[in-house]
Amino acid sequence: MKVPKITVVGSINMDMVIQTDRAPEQGETVLGRGFQMIPGGKGANQAVAAARLGADVTMIGAVGDDPFADVLLSHLRKEGLRVDDVEPVTGCATGVASIVLSEGDNRIIVAPGANAELSKAQIDRVKPTLQDSDLVVMQLEIPLEIVECVTGYCSEHGVPVLLNPAPAMALSEKLLGQISYLTPNESEEQALRPYATLSDEQWIVTMGSRGVRFMENGEERTVGGYATEVVDTTGAGDTFNGALATELAKGSPLKEAIEFANAAAALSITRLGAQTGMPKAEDVHAFMKKMR
Ligand code: RIB
Repeated sequence: MKVPKITVVGSINMDMVIQTDRAPEQGETVLGRGFQMIPGGKGANQAVAAARLGADVTMIGAVGDDPFADVLLSHLRKEGLRVDDVEPVTGCATGVASIVLSEGDNRIIVAPGANAELSKAQIDRVKPTLQDSDLVVMQLEIPLEIVECVTGYCSEHGVPVLLNPAPAMALSEKLLGQISYLTPNESEEQALRPYATLSDEQWIVTMGSRGVRFMENGEERTVGGYATEVVDTTGAGDTFNGALATELAKGSPLKEAIEFANAAAALSITRLGAQTGMPKAEDVHAFMKKMR
């Protein structure tokens, strides 16, 4: 079977995760139940999800010159990613995310650090890698001008781009017009619909426990969610995107790719941590068979 080549241009963070029974109100302090540092970042998460599911993944990004950089890079190498084009930024901190887990969901604040320093010069250096990819995957935790620059280059060279528009922000019609697949959640969809000239077929909308909505042959379809035990929803969307990218780059039909990615995401929330919870392909197939 074809091993799909995926390039992810995106963020690399260290997640600072605290579990608590209740998130604090403004000006309030509450006691948490535990603290963990877990590799994260939407870019790295989607890259790891794709690699675990069998894709050949190159990560393009930036880290700082602090101890987190080494920890995260060696972790990504262990996951089988090519990280030679992740550049260290002198005098800069690696991206971190503060994550509060409470009441079955998460609240996240990202300090982008080196992720904000990705430059056009760096993208120039990796153009051969972009051109050699079956699919390029991006999110919005890196500068928008970099997302635009990569998308423009890929569009000129016929390389499809999957954009996960998270965190939500206004995007130009030009950018949206060059995207092959856009994978917002429902609130991101609301923010983007008014601007987007994409055809309906290009929208793949994740709806949490209610599954995924998409269009096929001019008709709206929904792949339903799974009722699984929720331990940590962090990275569920990233697992979905990494899995979807892998299946699409392999050439799977859209509906099958979405069904597989939806099952992978459902499995990921049964474990703590974004990347720690990501399944292998055999786990996803076994899960889909069991839930049939
Ligand atoms: O999507 C989850 C991710 O968002 C976390 O890993 C965190 O780093 C933020 O980027």
